[in-house]
Amino acid sequence: MTERQLVETIPSVKGRYNLQSYESAYSTFRWDEIKTQFTWHQTGNCNLAYEAIDRHAQGSLKNKTALIYEDDARKEKYTFEQLSQISNRFGNLLLKLGIGQGDRVFFFMPRNPEIYTGIIGTIKIGAIVGPLFEAFMEGAVLDRLADAEAVAIVTTSALKQRIPRDKLPHLKYVIVVDEQEQWLPGEIDYRQEMAEASDELDIAWVDLEHPFILHYTSGSTGKPKGVLHVHGAMIQHYITGKWVLDLQDDDIYWCTGDPGWVTGTTYGIFAPWLNGATNLIRGGRFSPERWYQTIEDYKVTVWYSAPTAFRMLMSAGDEVARKSDLSTLRHVLSVGEPLNPEVIRWGMKVFGKRIHDTWWMTETGAHMIVNFPCMDMRPGSMGKPFPGIQAAIVDDQGNELPPYRLGNLAIRTPWPSMMRKIWNNPAKYEEYFRLKGWYISGDSAYRDEDGYFWFQGRVDDVINTSGERVGPFDVESKLVEHPAVAEAGVIGKPDPIRGEIIKAFISLREGYRETPELLEEIRLFVRNGLSAHSAPREIEVVGKLPKTRSGKIMRRVLKAQELGLPTGDLSTIED
Ligand code: WTA
Repeated sequence: MTERQLVETIPSVKGRYNLQSYESAYSTFRWDEIKTQFTWHQTGNCNLAYEAIDRHAQGSLKNKTALIYEDDARKEKYTFEQLSQISNRFGNLLLKLGIGQGDRVFFFMPRNPEIYTGIIGTIKIGAIVGPLFEAFMEGAVLDRLADAEAVAIVTTSALKQRIPRDKLPHLKYVIVVDEQEQWLPGEIDYRQEMAEASDELDIAWVDLEHPFILHYTSGSTGKPKGVLHVHGAMIQHYITGKWVLDLQDDDIYWCTGDPGWVTGTTYGIFAPWLNGATNLIRGGRFSPERWYQTIEDYKVTVWYSAPTAFRMLMSAGDEVARKSDLSTLRHVLSVGEPLNPEVIRWGMKVFGKRIHDTWWMTETGAHMIVNFPCMDMRPGSMGKPFPGIQAAIVDDQGNELPPYRLGNLAIRTPWPSMMRKIWNNPAKYEEYFRLKGWYISGDSAYRDEDGYFWFQGRVDDVINTSGERVGPFDVESKLVEHPAVAEAGVIGKPDPIRGEIIKAFISLREGYRETPELLEEIRLFVRNGLSAHSAPREIEVVGKLPKTRSGKIMRRVLKAQELGLPTGDLSTIED
């Protein structure tokens, strides 16, 4: 239980926001009314990609810049009309291969314009997009493609090496976007096919409940879960883009999220384009200088990033920030982990703007609890529920708890962008809805008496490192693949920059001795076998790991010991 504390308030600045009054919107809101802003609302036959791109391409925004792309090698701009044509071609490319409604098409590349046009084209034909992080190593790619029974993957000649085709009987096509000397059977030359494909496409008109994207995300146990979303999510993508991102006609919007992460699709693709906004995508690596320069070069007005990035910018020092003109920024937002009040104070200093925290999850598909520009902000709080969303803190039986009591952060079901399935895992899906009428987020939080929500942590053990969710189980499984490792337990250890870092406790097999070289070799083993962000930054060798009688490693015990906290109930511990 937490007591009411004196909280700091940063008042809203008067301005012309799309949402002028939170209270009145909340009390009168109806999802059905938002639907009437789409042309399909009477028939129910729709296509999210059509609404995001083609509708504008056929209307007054035809020649408006939809996508600005920049990385260290490419600088390009595309209008809505151009995006419509290129994505049509990609849709035709897939149709020619016999790919159609419901088929899974994965994307595995560094950020480039082809991902964006490819994702739109895939959705246009009613197929399902599976985005992957380029950092994934072979095992991670295999798990996801195998679970989804993907039929095609769009990739580069360099990354295709990490796709184990011999273990993927369903994978018929590897679409390679760049030049290569030798083309193997089943490899499709993207450039050649795109050059030959028609600009005109028969769009698949689908039901609101038709799936369009499958995002894999980590849980605390077992393999990554495939979270499936449907076209009807566009209702929420659209209205949250309008009210939370506050996108307006002349905005230049930059979301720093990669499409491998749900933020990089919902708010890096769909919400901005459903609102007809100019969307800036920056590829390449993070660098404070380049990021600030990007804001100056493109006169970015609305900026959506993550606490880990803000913390890195903060530690780079204010001088770096002062070298670029950041005065065009009018609205800044954050997602992925709790946003420290310290970072908000820093943001006020260097941008002269509040950073608006937003809370949601891969599973919720879009914003749930947010800070609106028109609302007074309490630093450290995630804000208040979006209109149409009823959030509560409930106990393990589903009873609502009063203010300041810590409990399960829960959302009344349903809402438009709610996941519809965990791929191949109905039992996992049901778990989220085990308390009747509620979606249980797995986060613990409390609510204050004015209705602001305050995040406390994950109920389970998922690690959130630099904004990426890492399942300890995945890392442990990889660790024990190493010949020297007998057992492994992995925890997130609080870190001022990365949110959490990964710490691994391992016991060694007979015949192995702890040396710095061996620990480094094990770390690289995870890095090369899973992904860079999954590699433990700290590895500690222990004689024995705390386990339950049924053999489950007790991560909470490891964590408590690491942090010098009481270990809690040990009744299930092995001897
Ligand atoms: C955490 C990200 C605190 C939380 C869109 C959630 C946050 C998980 C916040 C989902 C926030 C996300 N404050 N914690 N504003 N936003 N989280 O699926 O634990 O990558 O359950 O989706 O990140 O992460 P995911």
